[in-house]
Amino acid sequence: MIQAVLSKGEHTLSGSGTLLDLCINHAIPLSSSCRGRAICGKCIVTIHEGQNQLPAPSELEESKLIQLKCPENTRLACQVHVDGETSHLKISTPYW
Ligand code: FES
Repeated sequence: MIQAVLSKGEHTLSGSGTLLDLCINHAIPLSSSCRGRAICGKCIVTIHEGQNQLPAPSELEESKLIQLKCPENTRLACQVHVDGETSHLKISTPYW
């Protein structure tokens, strides 16, 4: 179960794909201007719970997170792939 924590409450996201895909599929607004290529850095999400279930960032994602001076519990939603094995994940952005 993936929960997006918005100011209006929590939304459960189901399915598989990138976190960006899931947000878009569930009409949760998440910025993106590079179409998920780890260039713009606009899709940053904070992982509040479940980070240990996620694969480590790729070199490309890690490089962007370092460039943007992101804290450790942040990821690029366009680069994080989730599937049925992801049992509990809680995410938010500063603008939700
Ligand atoms: S959508 Fe641009 S970095 Fe994720």
